[in-house]
Amino acid sequence: MSHKEIVRTVALGKDYPLPQGVLCVFEQLSFTLNQGELVAIMGSSGVGKTTLLNLLGLLDRPTRGKVLIEGQDASSLTEEERAYIRNRKIGFIFQFYHLLPEFTTLENVMFPLIIKGEKLTEAKAKAKDILEKVSLADKLSQRPAQLSGGEQQRVAIARALVNEPLLLLADEPTGNLDWKTGQRILALINDLHRERGLSSIIVTHDEKVAQFCEKVYLLYEGRLKLIRENHS
Ligand SMILES: Nc1ncnc2c1ncn2[C@@H]1O[C@H](COP(=O)(O)OP(=O)(O)OP(=O)(O)O)[C@@H](O)[C@H]1O
Ligand SMILES: [Mg+2]
Repeated sequence: MSHKEIVRTVALGKDYPLPQGVLCVFEQLSFTLNQGELVAIMGSSGVGKTTLLNLLGLLDRPTRGKVLIEGQDASSLTEEERAYIRNRKIGFIFQFYHLLPEFTTLENVMFPLIIKGEKLTEAKAKAKDILEKVSLADKLSQRPAQLSGGEQQRVAIARALVNEPLLLLADEPTGNLDWKTGQRILALINDLHRERGLSSIIVTHDEKVAQFCEKVYLLYEGRLKLIRENHS
């Protein structure tokens, strides 16, 4: 596998303004993900894992430092350019799914393709195909409220993967799934790594999910520390 750099942070810092002062979530955080890599980020609740994914996924802007996507400094881009990268290159599985409640399973997954300008029939075919891979072929016309938590999570996973992203950012993607279903999702992600050099960052509290990744980082006291490398 090549060592092309997909995402890199340079001295990244993020503050949140609070009524009682400023909360510094992290400072001087440096991290690189190369093409094809599959890494886990672990850490206690509230350390900043979601905050970090939001910065890497260009959903939020850092207070200090930079995020580079394929070597390009994201802070130099317009909102429109950032939205283009989010739609074309990044698949995001949100911790709390963020599905569109008015739309069906199929429509939720078609959404990124429609934004990209794909034809309806093609978008439908691609969305059906990925929904089959997450075992939701029989739930295409249900709305999120009519789905179980684990089913909603799988819709979110399908939506993140349907556009064949370069980079997958997954915030506890198997948190609501039983181990067998979770394993099937991990196997699907693994296939995409082998078949098309997908690069992924998986935030997880689950040691079994971390064992599945090549590198395991721990976010602790504002630092990202490599704690393990798994060789398969
Ligand atoms: N929009 C915000 N405004 C102010 N503070 C925030 C905001 N978002 C997060 N925080 C704070 O920043 C810190 C990091 O939050 P974050 O959601 O990144 O944690 P996390 O590691 O993802 O936790 P969890 O494992 O519970 O999901 C927390 O102390 C949180 O209260
Ligand atoms: Mg979180």
